[in-house]
Amino acid sequence: MCGIIGSIGVKNAVPVLLKGLERLEYRGYDSAGICVVTNNSLVVIKKTGKVAELAAHSAISSLKDTTIGIAHTRWATHGKPSEENAHPHLDCKGEIAIVHNGIIENYHKLKNELEEKGHVFRSETDSEIVAHLIEYYYNGNLERAVIMALKKVEGAFGLAVMHKSEKSIVAARRGSPLVLGISDGAMFVASDVSALLDYTSRVIYLDDNEVATLTSKSYTIKTLEGNMIRSRAVQEIDWNIDKIEKRGYKHFMLKEILEQPISIEKVLQNRIINNRILLDIKIDINTLKRLYIVACGTSWHAALEGKYIIERIAGIPVEVDYASEFRYRNPLFIKGDAIIAISQSGETADTLAAIRLAKEKSLPIISIVNVVGSGIARNSDSVIYLNAGPEIGVASTKAFTAQIMALVLFALYIKQERNDIADNEILNSLKVINCSIKEVLKSREEIKKIADEIYASRDALYLGRGMQFPVALEGALKLKEISYIHAEGYPAAEMKHGPIALVEEGTPVIALAMEDVLHEKMISNIQEVKARKGKVIAITDSQSLRVSSLADRVIKVPKVLDILSPIVTSIPLQLLAYYAAVKRGIDVDKPRNLAKSVTVE
Ligand code: AGP
Ligand code: GLU
Repeated sequence: MCGIIGSIGVKNAVPVLLKGLERLEYRGYDSAGICVVTNNSLVVIKKTGKVAELAAHSAISSLKDTTIGIAHTRWATHGKPSEENAHPHLDCKGEIAIVHNGIIENYHKLKNELEEKGHVFRSETDSEIVAHLIEYYYNGNLERAVIMALKKVEGAFGLAVMHKSEKSIVAARRGSPLVLGISDGAMFVASDVSALLDYTSRVIYLDDNEVATLTSKSYTIKTLEGNMIRSRAVQEIDWNIDKIEKRGYKHFMLKEILEQPISIEKVLQNRIINNRILLDIKIDINTLKRLYIVACGTSWHAALEGKYIIERIAGIPVEVDYASEFRYRNPLFIKGDAIIAISQSGETADTLAAIRLAKEKSLPIISIVNVVGSGIARNSDSVIYLNAGPEIGVASTKAFTAQIMALVLFALYIKQERNDIADNEILNSLKVINCSIKEVLKSREEIKKIADEIYASRDALYLGRGMQFPVALEGALKLKEISYIHAEGYPAAEMKHGPIALVEEGTPVIALAMEDVLHEKMISNIQEVKARKGKVIAITDSQSLRVSSLADRVIKVPKVLDILSPIVTSIPLQLLAYYAAVKRGIDVDKPRNLAKSVTVE
């Protein structure tokens, strides 16, 4: 969600903070703010809107020779996006500044108590209470005051705090991600590594209930109980700035869609040797009786594909849950259950909460995650990293196809470990799927023309059956989140039970009509749409004229093994959503109300 960056030791902190905010802006972005120390006092500058507007603020240019600062991009949870509610927040005396990511659940009670003690609040946020609580405990030692304050706080936080007279930044986390950046003569803290890569590739991930104190030359990490953590591995990040730059593309989303032939290959790299799958899975596969897959959004759509994939290849029953629903429905576990968590960011709060429940019940946890070192990865027994490279566009694209690849690999691995059988047909198809993706991407211009025809629609329906049903859901999600066109994904046969009422002359109906066992049924469903004058856009691998003579527009995809077909059919839908949103003039990388990393429940 929000982005936090703190810098201490660099000669002028302001450009570092602004650059960091720009890199973090994709996480959440209704307002932004910065706080630095000048002449022994705190200067705060805030602005609603984009980081560029904050950077253009007249007061920014007057800030010079400030070596300590913290900054924030906000995704409002408590209180509207406004300058008062933007972070950093100060205590009553204006001596302590905080930036916060997460939700302070008991803020109401704490606020009442602090108000009774005479504290005066300036914003509607839950976050501001933290500044006042630290003020209440402060007696010359910021770290100690932060620890004492956080003992009173319930909820989730990633925090960076500074005091006007202490040459340090104190950072703490519970539930929300925070990473320290280590460099010679300067230290940093941020919500994710993308904000640090301009300055260092050496990082330390903070764990829950830890507090770090940074000076320009050193850092210490303690638990909130006050126990010093003496050894914590410094990790070397192998991403470089290139990977988080647009490199000439208009949007990250387009860049990431076009990267898919490569990102797909990366999932396989060093994992198939002589047709044997090598995965670092630390649980005994032979004890597995049932799998639960938990995820949110696009990752949940990948999970739905995972059910088909694992049940078919590995023969193990799979249940799929929205992570946010999973723990509240008291799932009944049996011996032999295990959890798979799927998450691009690895920081989604609902998914983290679901695996915490699984942990409490002593279930083995395997996660399929893109971001190395993320919370979900660190809370899992085994991790299958996607290795897809950073995904910056809010709309998930390359992560989805990589997740499907990872699920196929995992299913093949289960089969191999249980029966010692290698499925050569699937393995061989996996190795060449990138060629089929390149083929699909050649239809870009054609898809753009179709987007130009449908971009002004009010509604769109996406229909698919079998493995194409989750693709329909994903296509509809892509369109709605970046173009704001109302879109629904349905199993095609369900259309006649309700959604067909939406079809009127010209309503775009995107039909996933692959030549599989359900092809005939799908053609009948297309007929039903045509009878209501809907505009059918068919995605198909069929060479026959039946689909093309019925549909208004046809997007051809190459034939691949049906278990891999969601990879080739989802890409045209990503492109369709992208071009429709661009045509509507929407900032596709940062559509309204959305955040890349949803770190609140
Ligand atoms: C995808 O386009 C979305 N923006 C969103 O649904 C996303 O997939 C969801 O928030 C889950 O994120 P995760 O994969 O990082 O856990
Ligand atoms: N809950 C805080 C607020 O509404 C922090 C939100 C965020 O993570 O950006 O200000």
